[in-house]
Amino acid sequence: MKNATWSGRFKKSLDKEVLEFSESVSVDHLLFDSDIKVCMAHAQMLCECKIITKSESNKICKGLQTIQKKYNDGKLSLSINLEDVHMNIEQALTKEVGDLGKKIHMGRSRNDLVSTDLRLYLRDCVDLILKKIKDTRYAIAITALDNSNVVFPGYTHMQLAQPITFGHHLLAWHEMLQRDEQRLDSVREVINVMPLGSAALSGTPYPIDRKSVAKKLGFKTISANSMDAVSDRDFVCDFAYSCSMVMMHLSRISEELIYWMNTHIKLVDIDEAFCTGSSIMPQKKNPDVPELIRGKCGSAIGALTSLLVLMKGLPLTYNRDMQEDKGIIIESISEVLSCLNLMPRLILTLTVNQKRALSFSKQGYSNATDLADYLTMKGTPFRDSHEIVGKIVRHAELKNTALDDLPLKDFNKFSKIIGDDVYSAINIEKSIHKKIASGSTSPLNVKKSAKKILASLEKNGYK
Ligand code: ARG
Repeated sequence: MKNATWSGRFKKSLDKEVLEFSESVSVDHLLFDSDIKVCMAHAQMLCECKIITKSESNKICKGLQTIQKKYNDGKLSLSINLEDVHMNIEQALTKEVGDLGKKIHMGRSRNDLVSTDLRLYLRDCVDLILKKIKDTRYAIAITALDNSNVVFPGYTHMQLAQPITFGHHLLAWHEMLQRDEQRLDSVREVINVMPLGSAALSGTPYPIDRKSVAKKLGFKTISANSMDAVSDRDFVCDFAYSCSMVMMHLSRISEELIYWMNTHIKLVDIDEAFCTGSSIMPQKKNPDVPELIRGKCGSAIGALTSLLVLMKGLPLTYNRDMQEDKGIIIESISEVLSCLNLMPRLILTLTVNQKRALSFSKQGYSNATDLADYLTMKGTPFRDSHEIVGKIVRHAELKNTALDDLPLKDFNKFSKIIGDDVYSAINIEKSIHKKIASGSTSPLNVKKSAKKILASLEKNGYK
């Protein structure tokens, strides 16, 4: 079958296998709603600019509405014979309103149309992801507030370092996601530029009003150079990068959950509904959801790499290679959405083994820094305090005792200024309350920060 849209200069029709190989409707059918919106705005503008008449524009818009309804009702199916969604819609329009439908392509081409449609579609996807990030931030803040007093082991190098509050740890996750939100906000700005009216690559001789179309479609601004407009896919790469960052953060969170759930660790449990058993070992309860999130992160990073490699060798302007961008970014978006979807409930249903967390937090001389701070606050320069405490720890290790159980006379062998008040200074349940500098782990800080986050989300309609 010949493709009526561009078959004029061809004697032969497209090879059937080439048709199957080159069609994009199996992916870009997702752009259907966007394409209809763009066609309507374009037709209205053509009328405003007196390129078509009012009655022609009305007929086209009515025709487009009918097509949309037919499509929604399952009465219009898209054909690969017409290659992509854009040509399917143009042909459906021509069937609906006759030859007038053929006028819709004045002052535009598929090269600017595909980018415009994709931008509209991705803008909605960004909004959806932003909403789900907010849901997750809300769940984190609620859980942090509940756990603001819970003493928990803090690690560096995966070795016990200092006690923290579990709420503080959760709020660290919150910061990662808040940065993701900011990143996506700025990607939204990058997406929100309208290329339509750049036509194939050099622009158009028709006296069109691109700003009017942009306004109708909610674009903030229009692209400045027709050649860049049709060859630019930076917005897709930026979006893929932001998705990778979200996934990288979710993967790190998942890794921590998996570690905490480890049989020997058992610090935090995730809800049974998020785990599966083993087909052979009856006792198993595996953290499949965080494992899958960690695994899916690979696809998101892969998508970013694929897009960068897709674009890196392309000369200006449009090249058919670019058709591949949609499948890649859509895959990445659906992974991010599926993971973010589960995250709030996964977090809200976490249970911490508080007794174990406290006992772990006390191991391994995790209060050694508290002792150094104690000496320093009594006037010893911090470097000297560090040295003295190092020696005290070695001494305690030899005696196989915790710092809290060393008698005062032992402390005094290393420093005369250590008094009875040392025991309260190195008691970790007390010392976490002293970390009140802004950004520190004290329960008071955690409560304040969590409440602030909740208040700002509630202001945006969250409850
Ligand atoms: N199906 C194409 C895509 O998704 C639309 C643009 C086609 N332009 C062209 N000159 N063949 O990229």
